Order: sequence, then structure tokens, then C-alpha cells
Amino acid sequence: MSDGLEGVIAADTILSEVDGEAGRLVIRGRSLDDLSGQARFEEVMALLFAGFFDGLPDEAGLSEALGRARAEVFRETAALDAGLKALGPIEAVRALTARLHDGDDLAVALRLVAAPAVFTPAVVRARQGLAPIAPDPSLSHAADILRMVKGRPASAAEAAGLDAYLVTVSDHGLNASTFAARVIASTRAGLTSAVLGGISALKGPLHGGAPGPVIEMLDQIGEPQNARAWIEAALDRGDRLMGFGHRVYRVRDPRADALKQAVRVMGEGSNALPGRLAFAEAVESAALAILKERKPDRSLQTNVEFYTALLLEALAFPPEAFTCVFAMGRVAGWIAHAREQLAGGRLIRPQSRYVGPEPRIAA
Ligand code: ACO
Repeated sequence: MSDGLEGVIAADTILSEVDGEAGRLVIRGRSLDDLSGQARFEEVMALLFAGFFDGLPDEAGLSEALGRARAEVFRETAALDAGLKALGPIEAVRALTARLHDGDDLAVALRLVAAPAVFTPAVVRARQGLAPIAPDPSLSHAADILRMVKGRPASAAEAAGLDAYLVTVSDHGLNASTFAARVIASTRAGLTSAVLGGISALKGPLHGGAPGPVIEMLDQIGEPQNARAWIEAALDRGDRLMGFGHRVYRVRDPRADALKQAVRVMGEGSNALPGRLAFAEAVESAALAILKERKPDRSLQTNVEFYTALLLEALAFPPEAFTCVFAMGRVAGWIAHAREQLAGGRLIRPQSRYVGPEPRIAA
């Protein structure tokens, strides 16, 4: 048995390769280094979906269909009542997504891609006592998301920053949420069920729930000179440093580099961001040095969540909604994996080893 299924290959996939030794991510034959900051989210969604749906339009047609799907799912925001507003944002987004029909066709898939993109802005605004803003199907996915959150058009730099993020997190091998989605898809439950499983797995702090706590850490550290003492104290308490460590990557998480670059590009037009980035880099170096001293045999590196936190903060998403933004990108990967599983995979049904007591033998 492998603890946490480490090293176990549970699927063949044409979707993405996570090369932990080389610190490289390939999405359908394209290196992340070439995609992030270059491609729009819609392009990568088209790349991931290619061959998995009948009647898949070209990228332009897919963008238009996604815009229409945003308008369709917006209707569900009418269900945002006091009960849903009282939940955490990712739980409210999950509850609204659960209202969508299940199925396996492209229309269902596009509504699911639209769901976190439309529900997150509505939930963020509802928590601020503001009414939701309806989508504008003519805009790019990223520009429309930012407009629905902020209530004003996004700048080109902001939309490019969000695109870089959504592309960077769109797919990542057999991570926990994608595995959960594939297990559900293998039962033929439908894409909505698979995506709901993905959202549920993503929510945990060891997976997609880490970037909110990264901001807490940065805010508590406050000044670069406090970093070492704060980090030492956290590790002495037995806490994990959020935004560091990865099951597969050993030399670097290429997504951390891609997002740091996206933050740098966004910072070119900003007064505050370069200073915030320099501070985060100081905290990062202190953390890496201390982790190296304490865990010399583990090679703990900065993971995707560290610079996610900085990028999403700069885009004015509240930290408690960061996981929802992660879901906006990863949903494309969940759906592609679910379709791939359905196309070629059997029911996923591993075995457990019983280590409990034997039944008593009646005298
Ligand atoms: N801070 C401090 N110590 C750490 C960290 C960390 N961030 N990550 C791992 N370690 C230590 C563990 O304590 C453990 O030490 P031990 O062997 O002395 O007990 C050792 O490194 C190995 O850790 P594992 O838990 O076996 O590593 P695993 O592969 O299971 O965990 C994980 C990977 C969950 C990402 C882990 O590194 C972690 O908890 N990081 C913090 C949370 C985080 O940033 N999550 C986002 C991950 S990226 C993503 O999902 C999108």
C-alpha cells in the first residue's frame, strides 16, 4: 500500500503531465511556460475539451457559447438567500452549482465552467450587501468575471492577470480534486456531480484552500524583518507554512514562477504591487531557508498557492473567495478528465485492507 497513494498511477491521460523531477507542467503538448501570460482561458479550455465533445465549435464559437452559458446560469443567483450568504463563499458557490442539471453534453459542461465564474462575483457582492451584476456575454471570460465582481470594466492588465491565473491552474494531472472528479465520473453520475466532488475536494486547506491563509501569514508578519521569527514560531508550534511544499514537485512548482511573473507584469502599472511583491519575496526567501534547515531531506519549494494569494489580492478578490477563483480555472480540467474517464475508463474501485478485529467465534 502507498500512503496517500503517493507514486501510484491511477489513470492514463492525454490532458496534462506534472513532471516533478524537472519541475515542468505540460498541458496537451504545450508547456505552461508558453501558455501562462500568453493564452486566454478560453483557448486553454478549447485545448482541454478538444476531442471530448460531439459538435465542439472552434475557439471563437466556444467563447461565444461560454458567454451565453454565463447569462443562463446567472438566473440561479436568485436563489442566494440569507442561508447561502451565511456559508463560506466556496460552500455557497457549491450550493448554487448543485442547482444545475446533471448530464454529459457540451451544454452541461459550459454551464459548469460558467458556474463558479458567475456565482463567485454574486456571492462576494452579496456578502458586501450588494446586488449581483449580470454577465456581459460579449466580453472575455476573465474581463466579465472582474466586471461582475468590481461593478466596473476591468483594465486590460487586470483581465490579462486573471487569464494568466486561470490558465495556470486549469489542469494539473491527478491532483486530489481531479481524482475525486474522475472517481465520480467513473460511476456515470454526470458532469455536475463530478464537478461538485471536485469543488468539495478543492476546498480543503491542503489543496485549494491555502491561498487565503497565505495572506493571513503575510499580514501577520507585516515587515520583512519579522519573517524569520514568525516562521520559526509557526513551525515550532507544528504548523505548516501555507504556500510551500508539494506532493510531486521537487525542484520547483512551475506555476509559482508563472504567477510570480504575472504579478510582476501587473505591477508595472501599479504603485502598491511592486512593494507587496518585494515583501512577499523576502518572506519566501526566509521560509525556504528555514524549511531547508529544518527538513534538509524534503526539498520543500514554493507552491502555486503562494503567488496565487498575491495575484488575487491585487485583483481585489477577498481572501475568503480565493478558492472559488481557483475553481473557475480548474473546472475546465475536471470536466476534461471526467470526459476522458467516461470515454475509456472502467469504474474506479480500489480495495482496502482490513486491519480491524476478527469476528468472535461463538463458543
Ligand atoms: N510547512 C512545513 N512543513 C511541511 C510543509 C509546509 N508547508 N509541507 C510539508 N512539510 C513537511 C511535513 O511536515 C513532513 O515532515 P515530516 O516528514 O517530518 O512529518 C514533510 O514535509 C512531508 O510532508 P507530507 O505531508 O508527507 O507531504 P505531502 O506530499 O503529503 O503534502 C502538501 C503536500 C499537502 C501540499 C504539504 O506540503 C502542505 O501541507 N503544504 C501546505 C499547504 C499548501 O500550501 N497547500 C497547497 C498545495 S498546492 C495545491 O494543492 C494546489
